[in-house]
Amino acid sequence: MMNIWPVPQVKLGENSIAEIPAALDSLGAEKVMVVTDEGLIKVGIYDKIEKVLIDAGKEVLLVDEVKPDPSMQLVDSIADKARLSGAQAIIGLGGGSSIDSAKVAAALVGNEGSIKDYIGVGVLPKPGLPILAVPTTAGTGSEVTYLSILSDLENETKKGFGTPFIMPKFAFLDPSLTVGLPPHITAPTGMDALCHCVEAYTSANANDYSDAMAVKAIELISQNIRTAYNNGSDLTARENMLLGSLMAGIAFANAGVTAVHAFAYPLGGMFHVPHGMANSLMLPVIIKFNASAMKERFGHIAEIMTGRKGADWQDCINEVEQLCVDVNLPRNLKAIDIPESAIKPMSVSVMDQTRLLVNNPREVTQEDAFAIYTEAWGR
Ligand SMILES: NC(=O)c1ccc[n+]([C@@H]2O[C@H](COP(=O)([O-])OP(=O)(O)OC[C@H]3O[C@@H](n4cnc5c(N)ncnc54)[C@H](O)[C@@H]3O)[C@@H](O)[C@H]2O)c1
Ligand SMILES: [Fe+2]
Repeated sequence: MMNIWPVPQVKLGENSIAEIPAALDSLGAEKVMVVTDEGLIKVGIYDKIEKVLIDAGKEVLLVDEVKPDPSMQLVDSIADKARLSGAQAIIGLGGGSSIDSAKVAAALVGNEGSIKDYIGVGVLPKPGLPILAVPTTAGTGSEVTYLSILSDLENETKKGFGTPFIMPKFAFLDPSLTVGLPPHITAPTGMDALCHCVEAYTSANANDYSDAMAVKAIELISQNIRTAYNNGSDLTARENMLLGSLMAGIAFANAGVTAVHAFAYPLGGMFHVPHGMANSLMLPVIIKFNASAMKERFGHIAEIMTGRKGADWQDCINEVEQLCVDVNLPRNLKAIDIPESAIKPMSVSVMDQTRLLVNNPREVTQEDAFAIYTEAWGR
């Protein structure tokens, strides 16, 4: 049976944030909490949102303590603030870190206790507050997924938390909010989005619906990421990247991601490698590992990325590698100072990512994991 997850109502385009108050009205929300990080305050993006809300007569509560790779402790503390404040809706403003934190905190408000009690998929018993997402990276696709990824500081890893209750009700994708995203964040966040659609398209759980989303997302992202990187103020490229990351998010919400994300998590958990960079470091190595199970699909991805009929899975690896060079992402783990001695513990840790590894088109053994990290380290 095919399962298709609902998507929020999406407003895409310049100044779409002007629609936020009407969305809040439809939810009966007068008091709203905005969850974001300091970076969004510094570049003035929070001020723009606050102005839209205040002008519409809304009461605004700001929580700006989100950090990259948010932890379970952080979301517990945001949920406590939301419980005490009496907020009626929560806006996640920023990249995946802020939106993921907002989603979990909003859901916790309707339940007792800590997120630690509910880790996993489908564990949380009750809904919480309605969520509105305003992504400012393109991106994680968190605005259209029922998942949040949280750091487990005790075990130095990252864990997924999934429930339909954290699917946002509305998403506002305004390209003007992403023009100031610096190239060194545009590149890894864009590669994260590319990984989502490439992995969804080559997932063992892909279906016709996720394929349609993934194929268009691969096209949008691969054709716009270089322009967004080189000329951040190109609004068309920025809008296409936002749409691409949204469609990639829908694709992987329905098909799952595979070994690329699984192998990226220990890099994030143990060495705090930014999520998109960790994925981009693993992508060519995993395509090579998975190619034998999905030759045609990797060939099709290469055709979309190169625009050349007849391109094959090897072209797919070459094209992905060239893209990483063009947006100045590192080539291997050695280049970002991951010690060689980490290969062993990372290859043990990745085997716990069963939620993702079950989607991989090829089984991954402990020995494979060691070989994959070894190649990613020194190739
Ligand atoms: N929920 C999901 O489905 C999902 C999917 C993929 C990744 N994730 C998670 O998302 C997190 C990563 O999110 P991210 O890659 O979007 O990065 P991020 O949210 O950590 O943000 C990175 C940096 O970019 C800055 N920034 C964001 N937008 C900006 C803008 N427009 N202008 C200037 N600076 C800006 C932020 O202040 C921050 O310093 C990770 O924790 C990852 O695990 C979640
Ligand atoms: Fe991701």
